[in-house]
Amino acid sequence: MIMAIPNLQVALDHSNTADAVAAAVSVGAEVDIVEAGTVLMCEVGSEVVQILRKLFPDKPIVADTKCADAGTTIARNCKNQGADIMTCICAAEVATMTSAAKEIDHIQVELYGDWTFEQAQEWLDNGIEQVVYHQSRDALLAGVTWGEKDLEKVKKLVDMGFKVSVTGGLNLETIELFEGVDVYTFIAGRAITEADDPAAAAKELKDKIKELWA
Ligand code: 5RP
Repeated sequence: MIMAIPNLQVALDHSNTADAVAAAVSVGAEVDIVEAGTVLMCEVGSEVVQILRKLFPDKPIVADTKCADAGTTIARNCKNQGADIMTCICAAEVATMTSAAKEIDHIQVELYGDWTFEQAQEWLDNGIEQVVYHQSRDALLAGVTWGEKDLEKVKKLVDMGFKVSVTGGLNLETIELFEGVDVYTFIAGRAITEADDPAAAAKELKDKIKELWA
């Protein structure tokens, strides 16, 4: 099977617009997708999406709202600001996901904590085809690591037919774990934005992905 080379998405999780925009400008050319991260959106609101849209008219923009309710309104607001993709938390009702999906090009379900493959099948049955497999920042800080258990779940989601993005403290090493798996997108935040040279860090990640999946 010919496998597509996974995308690289940068997550901008800054606490102010100026820093997020500066990071976006420096790494934008190296990445496939630009994300207004949850931290950023909680702090400055969805208007930052409008700035990213203007900076990158041709790149997909993700609004990482992790929406739990009011899917129609939140998705409409994100779409109006220029987002193509919006995230919903896996604990949301399917009705929240499907109502959001009517307003914006794509919904991605963020997989945190407790979720089941039965729920995942229900999302698919309702036309939600993208998930984000996530190791939370807090779990990683508490000592959880990436491993075989994650690989198995990601593979199963891919086999079910999802486009699966993978994220959470990713770096050059953790990406290697997924070699040969049909990952849709790797999402990296701090490994890029907190590097001494963010553009070089993004390029290194992109080159690593190309090397492993070419
Ligand atoms: C946090 C997020 C982050 O944007 C995502 O996990 C990428 O950030 P990092 O690579 O810094 O962990 O969605 O909830």
